[in-house]
Amino acid sequence: MLEKIQKYKEEITALNIQSKAELEDFRLKFLSKKGLIPSLFEDFKSVPNEQKKSLGAEINILKQFAEQIFADLQAKFEDANEGENDALLDLSLPAIPNHTGTRHPLAIIKNRIIEIFARVGFSVAEGPEIEDDWHNFSALNFPENHPAREMQDTFFVMRNPDLALRTHTSSVQVRTMEKQKPPIRILSPGRVFRNEAITARAHCFFHQIEGLYINEKVSVKDLKDTLLYFAKELFGKETKIRMRPSYFPFTEPSVEIDVSCMICGGKGCNVCKHSGWVEIMGAGMVDPNVLENCGIDSATYSGFAFGMGIERITMLKYQIKDLRLFSENDVRFLRQFHHVV
Ligand code: PHE
Repeated sequence: MLEKIQKYKEEITALNIQSKAELEDFRLKFLSKKGLIPSLFEDFKSVPNEQKKSLGAEINILKQFAEQIFADLQAKFEDANEGENDALLDLSLPAIPNHTGTRHPLAIIKNRIIEIFARVGFSVAEGPEIEDDWHNFSALNFPENHPAREMQDTFFVMRNPDLALRTHTSSVQVRTMEKQKPPIRILSPGRVFRNEAITARAHCFFHQIEGLYINEKVSVKDLKDTLLYFAKELFGKETKIRMRPSYFPFTEPSVEIDVSCMICGGKGCNVCKHSGWVEIMGAGMVDPNVLENCGIDSATYSGFAFGMGIERITMLKYQIKDLRLFSENDVRFLRQFHHVV
């Protein structure tokens, strides 16, 4: 029996317990009810009386030794666990970065345009993407046989040919003029649709932001001043603008607005096709017929309107070569705008 005690003692001393699981194995083997140490006490019952005193003392020493080891290791493993909890609660540790999404480049530019015009009194107006002929075409002075009404440009609603997907957000300008009295200063951002083949330069849907200002005595000078201010704010203080005569049914006179090339500053490069200028929008003085169609007295009021493609402005601003990137949702593209707010 003394030998057994000795052997157990050596075995326990040699143990190298590293985990809670190993400690539990140790407890089961030596200390549990059916473990080796309690079984020594069983054996002890049959020990001759004269040996009981010394053997009993040895067994108790072994038992206390084993219990002490168990208690020490248990405390050690508990402490380690608490350490883990402490780490979770340490609010001074740097945070694990949380990758949130980024703003879409079109949203970035749209918001920037809105912000620039908001500073000179323009507010945002919105309208439906499915429009009737009146708001998209007729009120805007489109002649009955104007090519823009034809099937190749416009997506009509099959069950109701009076309805179509809006081809521009000028429809929102009509809706606003019908509801509000001048002065009116609005921007109408939104998605528009045209039946075009999808290429690097065209898509069947894109985004526009159009502007409208109606008041007494609004002149071409107001139009030019406002758009020059806008171009300088968006592309930089050195930017110049020029107007080229153009045609839109709803404006008279109508112009195209070019800005001096933001890449080469006007010297000539690939972006401006060596002309020094890039076209950014259409504009003009609101045709008196349009004002009258919307219930505004054209003898008292005049106004200007302009409209630009948000995709086009964004492509110029960030040198994006393919329009399709905007709608493919490829994170490798979208992620590149992480740094722009
Ligand atoms: N609505 C025109 C378009 O979609 C843009 C425009 C708006 C032109 C206002 C002139 C004035 O092309």
